[in-house]
Amino acid sequence: MPTKILSVSHYAPENKLTNFDLEKIVETSDEWITERTGIKERRIAEPGIATSDLAKEASLRALKKAGVKPEEIDGIMVATATPDTFVVSTACTLQTKIGAKKAFAFDLWAACPGFIYGLKLAKGLINGENIRYILLVGAETLSRFLDWEDRTTCVLFGDGAGAFVIGNKSEEEGIIDVYLGADGSLKDLLIMPGGGSLKPCSYEIIEKRECYIKMKGREVFKNAVLKMQEAVDIILERNNIKPEQIDYFIPHQANIRIIEALRERLKMPKEKVYVNIDRYGNTSSASIPIALSEMDEKGLLKKGTLLLLAAFGAGFTWGSAIIRW
Ligand code: COA
Repeated sequence: MPTKILSVSHYAPENKLTNFDLEKIVETSDEWITERTGIKERRIAEPGIATSDLAKEASLRALKKAGVKPEEIDGIMVATATPDTFVVSTACTLQTKIGAKKAFAFDLWAACPGFIYGLKLAKGLINGENIRYILLVGAETLSRFLDWEDRTTCVLFGDGAGAFVIGNKSEEEGIIDVYLGADGSLKDLLIMPGGGSLKPCSYEIIEKRECYIKMKGREVFKNAVLKMQEAVDIILERNNIKPEQIDYFIPHQANIRIIEALRERLKMPKEKVYVNIDRYGNTSSASIPIALSEMDEKGLLKKGTLLLLAAFGAGFTWGSAIIRW
C-alpha cells in the first residue's frame, strides 16, 4: 500500500531567546554564536508547558490541514529525546490530549534523526498492516535539559514540534526510501548521563550537573558531517537519483557549517537547501518537520516535489529519506 504525507504542520513556543539575551546568562557573544553555528534566536517553552503540549498544537494543526479527525488516527508515534515523563510515553499523553481514542501510541527515542526513524516505521506499518492513518510527531523541550551555566551547549538548542499525518490514500509512493544507521560506541560524546537506570536521580547527580545534556562539540561535528554525507550518498545511489534531480534538500538544523559542507558536496545551489536554524536553533527531532511545515506555508511543496532529508544525532544515530510530495 503506497504511503502519502497528507499534511505537515508545526508549532513553536512564542517566547524567543536571542543571542543577545544569552550574553546576559553565560560568557558568549552574538558574534561567536552566529559565526560558529548560524543561530540568532531559539524558542523556549514557558514553565509548565511540556513536550506533549507542543506536540498537541502541531498535531491538531496537521490533522485540520489533512481533514482527518483525531478519532480516525490508527497510530501515534512521537519522536522525542525530551519526553514529558519517563515510564509514560509522550505519545500516550498526546493521544488523550487530542482525543485520538482508537490510536495505539508510543515514543521513538532516536534523538535528532527520530523523525526519519519514524518515517521508516510509518512506511512499514502502512505497507504491511491494516492501517489507514499514522500521526508522526517530532517534539522537544530541550530547554529543560540544558545546563544554563554551560555555554558550549545552552546556546545551541531550542524547543518546538512538527507533525505529519501519513496515510495510505494514494496511488503513488510518497515515502520512497528511508536509510537508517546507528553506532552506540560513541554515545558518550553527546549524552545526558544522569536520570536513567544507570545513574538514577540523586543529589549527587544534580550536584555533578549530570541531569543535563553534555556534548563534545568538535567530535560530534566531525561525525555529523561524515555520517550525514554517507547517508545522503547511500540513499541517492540506491534509488539511482542524482542530486540535481532533488528539488529541495532539508538537512537537520544543527549547525550552518554542517549544512554548508553537505550542500557543497551535493553541489546544490543555496535556494535548494532549506535553512531556518537562525530562528530555531537545534530542535532535535522537530527540526525537519518544522522546516517542511514552513516550506509548505511558503508554497514550496507541490504535488510531485522531490525531497531529500538527512539527520544525525545522539546515540549516535543518523538517517536519510527521499520523499515525493
Ligand atoms: N561562546 C563563546 N565561546 C565559546 C562558546 C560560546 N557559546 N562555546 C564554546 N566556546 C569556545 C570554546 O570554549 C573554545 O575556546 P578555547 O579555544 O579557548 O578552548 C572555542 O570557543 C572553540 O570551541 P570549539 O568547541 O572548538 O568550537 P567549534 O567550532 O567546534 O563549535 C559547536 C562548537 C558546538 C558549535 C560545534 O562543534 C557544533 O556545532 N558541533 C556539532 C553539533 C551537532 O552536530 N549536533 C548534532 C547532533 S544534535
